[in-house]
Amino acid sequence: MSSEKITARGQDLRSWIAAMQEAGELVTVKGADRESEIGGVVDIAMRKMGRPSVLFEDIPGYDPGMRVLGNLFTSVKRIALTVGLPADTKEVDLVRFWRDYMRNAPTLPTKEVNAGALLENTFTGDDIDIMKIPAPRWHEQDGGHYIGTGCMVIMKDRDSGWINYGAYRIQQHDKRTASVKISKGKHGDILMRRYHDRGEPCPIAVVAGVHPGLFAVAGLEIPYGKNEFEAAGGLLGESIRTINGPKTGLPIPAEAEIAFEGFVYPDDQIDEGPLGEWTGYYAGGKKMEPAIRIETFWHRDNPILTGAIPGIPPNDDTFYRGTARAGVVWHELEAAGVPEVKGVWSHEAGGSRMWLTVAIKQQYAGHSKQAGYIASQCHAGAYANRVVVVVDEDINPADMDKVVWAICTRCDPKDDVDILKHCWSTTLDPMAYPPERRNMNSRMIIDACVPWNRMHEWPDTVTNTPPLEKLVRDKFGDMLPKDW
Ligand SMILES: Cc1cc2nc3c(=O)[nH]c(=O)nc-3n(C[C@H](O)[C@H](O)[C@H](O)COP(=O)(O)O)c2cc1C
Repeated sequence: MSSEKITARGQDLRSWIAAMQEAGELVTVKGADRESEIGGVVDIAMRKMGRPSVLFEDIPGYDPGMRVLGNLFTSVKRIALTVGLPADTKEVDLVRFWRDYMRNAPTLPTKEVNAGALLENTFTGDDIDIMKIPAPRWHEQDGGHYIGTGCMVIMKDRDSGWINYGAYRIQQHDKRTASVKISKGKHGDILMRRYHDRGEPCPIAVVAGVHPGLFAVAGLEIPYGKNEFEAAGGLLGESIRTINGPKTGLPIPAEAEIAFEGFVYPDDQIDEGPLGEWTGYYAGGKKMEPAIRIETFWHRDNPILTGAIPGIPPNDDTFYRGTARAGVVWHELEAAGVPEVKGVWSHEAGGSRMWLTVAIKQQYAGHSKQAGYIASQCHAGAYANRVVVVVDEDINPADMDKVVWAICTRCDPKDDVDILKHCWSTTLDPMAYPPERRNMNSRMIIDACVPWNRMHEWPDTVTNTPPLEKLVRDKFGDMLPKDW
């Protein structure tokens, strides 16, 4: 089948894998162990974006049917196919897709069903054993094995019933115990505190093998109070089919590969971490984090664990989020009244947050500064940003050569570079102020647009004019490589 016809929408991971195989976006590795070799292969795969996903089979010491899928979303093609776009979608078109998704916020209600492949194997009580899943030690200095990275962690608001899910890392501890690490202020943290403040256990469900489209929504900042299952339905174009967890009542995707439900009790914490993180460092160390006491465990026959692992950016935790973040920043710039935004790119090496490039068609003096300051401080751009570059519309913000060229030739550092201090950051940012102000950083805004007052005298750029471009493509296109 030609890759133009392939789509990986749907909610079954196995149909996604089949689609990726057809698109040439998946390789299989047999015999890698979970202790270091799976992580070692994924580390190599992630050194360059665009490389295929890796399906690990025949993991030593485990049931031969158990598999692990890594390097999910490190290619524009895989992300595009998952959200129903053509295989040859360009970076900025993918960003435009995310901008429209955030702006229009499509939703579809979930559909509760009584059956689904997840129920092929159900365990309760002493029969529960999550250790039978070959959760890898993803990086050599990780403090344990992570069953949840490319996962969904589902919770419910105690009072309103609002259902939320997010991607929060889940460490495997023993047969019936896992842990969850949720940063302060994330929705899962807010929801859990509502139970614990009243001395009650917090119901929780973890889905550890999942269609990447469902996982993608887990990692996005869907607004507070909005149901992520419904947002995922809107993204994938079909209602998400769920079963109800018998102990927690939480909805769980019926076609998931691996899932468990249980409770986090107040003050029940366990040693967690470290995990090599998205900034590229073993930041955060080992800390006490909430323990999940598991009451029901399910898996399909021959289950597949999905991993989306952090590392030196770009990585599987940040790359797809960069394309989505750029879309949200674009949307937020427009919502703040910045006209003629032509594109946004969150540079891969900045881990989706630290570097943003905004392209505009300049309309008035000060337009480029306005775009830069707002991109650096709007909700989607503010957290852990370090660099914002504003370029003219002739620069593709996803083409770093052109962005650097613009900085080198259109920016006068004494006027065009501004430093902002005391901005919102994280302890995972190794340059955030130590020790008492660890959550703040400084950042720069680079105006790399042609100076407004010199537009009329700016020299022409040395590249084909549109008529010559068209002429040579029409006349010689058949003789030239397709990707020129
Ligand atoms: C692969 C991956 C792993 C993540 N791990 C964590 C984590 O361990 N803790 C955390 O607080 N956020 C983590 N995040 C970020 C959250 O998933 C993200 O901020 C999401 O919007 C949280 O959902 P919420 O907005 O409903 O809180 C991770 C994201 C991805 C994509």
